[in-house]
Amino acid sequence: MTVKKMRVGLVGSGYMGKAHAIAYRNAIAAFAIPQGQLHCEMLADATPELAEMKALELGFQRSTGDWKSLIHDPNIDVVDICAPNFLHKEIALAAIAAGKHVYSEKPLALNAADAREMTEAAERAGVKTLVGFNYIKNPTVQFAKQLIARGDIGEVVHFRGVFNEDYLADANLPFSWRLQKQFAGTGALNDLASHLVQLATHLVAPIVSLCADLKVVHQYRPLSSNDAKAGVGEVENDDQAHMMVRFANGAQGTLEASRIAWGRKNGLSFEITGTKGSLIFDQETLSELSLYIAEGNPQTQGFKRILVGPEHPDYQAFCVSAGHGLGFNDMKAVEIRDLFQGIVHDAPLWPDFRAATQVNIILDSVVESYEKKAWVEVEQYDVNR
Ligand SMILES: NC(=O)c1ccc[n+]([C@@H]2O[C@H](COP(=O)([O-])OP(=O)(O)OC[C@H]3O[C@@H](n4cnc5c(N)ncnc54)[C@H](O)[C@@H]3O)[C@@H](O)[C@H]2O)c1
Repeated sequence: MTVKKMRVGLVGSGYMGKAHAIAYRNAIAAFAIPQGQLHCEMLADATPELAEMKALELGFQRSTGDWKSLIHDPNIDVVDICAPNFLHKEIALAAIAAGKHVYSEKPLALNAADAREMTEAAERAGVKTLVGFNYIKNPTVQFAKQLIARGDIGEVVHFRGVFNEDYLADANLPFSWRLQKQFAGTGALNDLASHLVQLATHLVAPIVSLCADLKVVHQYRPLSSNDAKAGVGEVENDDQAHMMVRFANGAQGTLEASRIAWGRKNGLSFEITGTKGSLIFDQETLSELSLYIAEGNPQTQGFKRILVGPEHPDYQAFCVSAGHGLGFNDMKAVEIRDLFQGIVHDAPLWPDFRAATQVNIILDSVVESYEKKAWVEVEQYDVNR
């Protein structure tokens, strides 16, 4: 089911809602999307007042304090879910039932069972889906994938991935939905390691088995930042997540994520070792890739620092000059370009709900491994890569 234009209904206008709103505008300019074919139609938030204020700020035509009315609005083609994790399933299932395409932030769901239900509903209804695993949209990461696919570093034998941030490093930061299982699911695992797992499977191969460890470091947090008498709440999900993995091609990997790693702001990095060379990437310098190819005079071998430019995928849309660098919101604009192509021009969308369900399956396996203190096999959900 395709439409001639894409009219967006955005649910949630916090951190990610704003990033999406910026990306809709940027995608129109960067990718020359024809006038009127991408329209920011309606914004829903928790209250009508908040929704009205944010719609004005972020350039949406109309607003509502009830996401259900957005879903049933005839002038919405795609429902963009930027609400907290626990709402993804309910909103997505309602949107699918109303025949809308769905673009959801990650993680798709709180667990694999919910993700499967969402995937199967979308496939039965024939609507398009896309999940916001934006790091694979970065031109630098797209180029890394090209290098691996054409064999420049040989067979991949190892993936070392880290996603560390410090947004909860201060033990006195107050309680929020992110710390409760019913609203967030797992902690650093769902929030940060979900990106890393998706990135690793995208760049290397499916993850087939793993052994994991999880830890809550700051067990209690104040319920209020300005009222000491309010007491403390017990943190229900992991601050740190570690895993050893095996990929389907035989490669090994280690993945770690932390939300309490002081000094790390967007500390997603990976090092990929192949039989002929290596790649190193760090999201905090997201327009650079280090490449080592084991050939030539050993005296002059070393890592080459490549700055992305117009010759790399999707960079030129933003800048004609090499090495000027892109930002987080530009990756989101690439994601929105993909969404537009999928919905208006029927292009395949990736990663879709099915692919995101495989991520949820891996995250569930991490919890299973941690609870059993053992290696576990990871079920494969027939994802077409
Ligand atoms: N892709 C990424 O890199 C990335 C980064 C951060 C967050 N996320 C994901 O984005 C989602 C939102 O996270 P965030 O950091 O923007 O959270 P946030 O708390 O900043 O924003 C959540 C928004 O949802 C709204 N909301 C809450 N209940 C609602 C309801 N019943 N109806 C309508 N709106 C409601 C809130 O008012 C707020 O505007 C999460 O799933 C998160 O995992 C993705």
